Amino acid sequence: MYIKRNASSDLENLKKEFQEISNDYKKPIKTIGPQEVYEEVFNFAKLNNVYSAALKEISTKLDIIDSDFQHMYKHNPIHHIESRVKDFHSLIKKLKHRNLEISAEIARDNITDIAGIRVICNRIEDIYAIENLLLKQEDINLLKRKDYIKNPKENGYRSLHIIITVPVFLTDSVEVAPVEIQIRTIGMDMWASLEHDLRYKNKDNTEKFKKELKQCSIDIENVEKKMQSIHSEIFD
Ligand code: GTP
Ligand code: MG
Repeated sequence: MYIKRNASSDLENLKKEFQEISNDYKKPIKTIGPQEVYEEVFNFAKLNNVYSAALKEISTKLDIIDSDFQHMYKHNPIHHIESRVKDFHSLIKKLKHRNLEISAEIARDNITDIAGIRVICNRIEDIYAIENLLLKQEDINLLKRKDYIKNPKENGYRSLHIIITVPVFLTDSVEVAPVEIQIRTIGMDMWASLEHDLRYKNKDNTEKFKKELKQCSIDIENVEKKMQSIHSEIFD
């Protein structure tokens, strides 16, 4: 999940992009006319609106948890939050990659990371506290969970991933939108950013960097555990 600030939707540009994409995308999408392109772009813009609303709902829930936690335990579990709605290009790329038709409806039914939020926590135990407090809320449903902290990936990647759904109340309907939430510590986030940059920007020396990165991941885990136990000794 690459996080950047989104420009508000530029419908004319979106329409042009969509037309270009549907022109060179012959299978399985059918040839469509300008009116259909316009309607589909409109549907994508509507989808974008629902997902940014879902992000607002989740961000607010997280803010409330964070400040209540501060009142209860004199400690803020959340360092900061980043969020993004998947941009049009990446969404189309993912649909193509999965050999799916380029339509907002198909995207809504098949892609669960259109709305993404990253919660950066101060300590490992904050991650699980945030997860529990969010999942026990009545309007939140868990769709999928991957704990790359208990089971780090082979390359050293660590993070807790949950995909949840949240209802979004619109003028004349209620949409239940999935949101991918990545919860990690500052150290895990620092590692993931470097690994992401190396993967995309650095083509040489990959074996050397892979080994060093893996070691960094282990070192970060050790430092985090040590700091956590110092913190517990002082405050618990
Ligand atoms: P997609 O990769 O999103 O199609 O789905 P998946 O089922 O493989 O999901 P997973 O939960 O494994 O990863 C989802 C997101 O986590 C990715 O889009 C990245 O943002 C992040 N992520 C997963 N693995 C890595 C990794 O090895 N390095 C970094 N930097 N980020 C990762
Ligand atoms: Mg993803």
